[in-house]
Amino acid sequence: MCGIVAYVGHRQAYEVIIKGLKRLEYRGYDSAGIAILESEDNLTVYKKKGKVADLEEFLEDKNLSSNIGIGHTRWATHGEPNDVNAHPHYSSHKDLALIHNGIIENYASLKQDLLNHGHIFESETDSEVFIHFIEDIKKHQMCSLDEAVRLALTKVVGAYAIVVMSKSDPNLLIAARKGSPLVIGLGKDEFFLASDATPIIEYTNEVVYLNDYEIAIIKDGKLSIKNTQDIPTTPYIQTLEMELETIEKGGFEHFMLKEIFEQPRSISDCMRGRLGAVKGHLVLGGIREYANKLENADRIIMLACGTSWHAGLVAEYIFEELCRIPVEVEYASEFRYRNPVIKEGDVVIAISQSGETADTLAAIELAKSKGAIIFGVCNVVGSSIARVSHEGAYTHAGPEIGVASTKAFTAQLTVLTMIALRVAHKKGTITERKYREFLVELENIPSKVEKVLELNDQIKYIADLYKHASNFLYLGRGYNFPVALEGALKLKEISYIHAEGYPAAEMKHGPIALIDEEMPVVFIATKDSSYEKIVSNIQEVVARKGRVIAIVTENDELIKDMAEFVIEIPATNELLTPLVSVVPLQLLSYHIAVMRGCNVDQPRNLAKSVTVE
Ligand code: G6P
Repeated sequence: MCGIVAYVGHRQAYEVIIKGLKRLEYRGYDSAGIAILESEDNLTVYKKKGKVADLEEFLEDKNLSSNIGIGHTRWATHGEPNDVNAHPHYSSHKDLALIHNGIIENYASLKQDLLNHGHIFESETDSEVFIHFIEDIKKHQMCSLDEAVRLALTKVVGAYAIVVMSKSDPNLLIAARKGSPLVIGLGKDEFFLASDATPIIEYTNEVVYLNDYEIAIIKDGKLSIKNTQDIPTTPYIQTLEMELETIEKGGFEHFMLKEIFEQPRSISDCMRGRLGAVKGHLVLGGIREYANKLENADRIIMLACGTSWHAGLVAEYIFEELCRIPVEVEYASEFRYRNPVIKEGDVVIAISQSGETADTLAAIELAKSKGAIIFGVCNVVGSSIARVSHEGAYTHAGPEIGVASTKAFTAQLTVLTMIALRVAHKKGTITERKYREFLVELENIPSKVEKVLELNDQIKYIADLYKHASNFLYLGRGYNFPVALEGALKLKEISYIHAEGYPAAEMKHGPIALIDEEMPVVFIATKDSSYEKIVSNIQEVVARKGRVIAIVTENDELIKDMAEFVIEIPATNELLTPLVSVVPLQLLSYHIAVMRGCNVDQPRNLAKSVTVE
């Protein structure tokens, strides 16, 4: 949610920043802007409503020479997306500029005080208040800029990652974070700051992840860090393993398609070094010290949002089946605002691709404060959720850039299944033979997903026939019920077609009223324990002239006779079916969205990483 990039060093800052903003555009894309120090005494801000490409076009004939600068791509919270509300924001004397990701909750009262001090605001944003507040403190306390930033941070309430630059110092950047991510890349005599590592990786793989309440001061080629209590801290330098190719499209038209096609590899990567079916080996290096808490848990609470919540629903079924531990799957945003019953030693599994989702993070903090043990299942290494968790397992799916989550979902399912198998094996709730069979079948999943990807042309053909529909229904039972929810979510988020996911048997309690000859109904009807039941549900839809598209197990002749189209996927163990059955639904929504002319990688109103509540 909002992407920030900043640079100081020997390169042209504009080049680094504009490229970085494009890499971060998945975080927000309603407006973008930069501030550079064109010459001594000339701190210039350029900003534009629209995509980063619109800003770039606007800047074509400008003199942008500068070795220091800050840039921002916005997802609006306070104030509509327009040129004025875009970042960076100036202080009143235009000698400071700030970019901000997050929300300042007490901005209204701060603004009132500043208005009383004579400040005049141009935008409706909380971020502009932030920089005026810093300016005001600097003036009244007659202190250095970094001290003014620090004092301001002790007063603001909310979440932020900020970078501030000053007209009077061409070698100074000040950054800080609380609740919103910020990474500092360390080059040779140069520094890069960004919301994640993707704008940094092509220049350096040495990074420092800023912690909450830390302030980074980059001055005259040196980095120092202190916290808001004014206590210096030692930067912890990490070496990133990310490759540049993993954040480029690699010949695919969209990141989403690339990421769908990456799944055989990403699922394998997720199991690499952890699972060896031949020897019956399953080790999760990130779950050791607290492993017994999981095994002895009276119940498990899964916390997540969006697609990650769907992964949690599948995991609920798997954990209850294999481990015989009751599981509750909670929307993090609901959980945090009621008074949940959490006992000392309760186990929470928090699932998040980005590891930065504000609601999930806050729900974790709540559970942690009541004594719960937190296991994080995150994709982004070093992310906030990964860091606040007691232990956990990364999904290792590689950077996911498409806003609609695809490979992260299947990687989450893979990790959650491995955790469940580990616990079940330790607890003895599954037999050795079953355990071994699962390991073998998990290893087979990447090749089964590969087979589904071979159906791409068939799915594209089907997409063409249904692309004008205004509604879709997705129905599944058991392990395929969350897949129905995920299929519907994928379609609505990228094609803007209204879609509902339902447990197939619930159809009779409402959605069946919607069915007519215009209504496409996607059934996920693989041969599993509820097969006969779902066949009856298909018949109920066909009898009402609904248009059935069914995801079925290879060689299913029965459903072929009832449905308009079937998409045949390889058979697998029932518990692992979602890993395979979700893939045709990802492709179906992708092709429909492309045919409808939608921007699949940057769907309207959405952002990849929701760092505001
Ligand atoms: C946003 C994204 C979704 C994602 C959800 C949760 O809404 O667009 O794709 O599922 O956030 O994000 P997380 O990073 O916590 O998995």
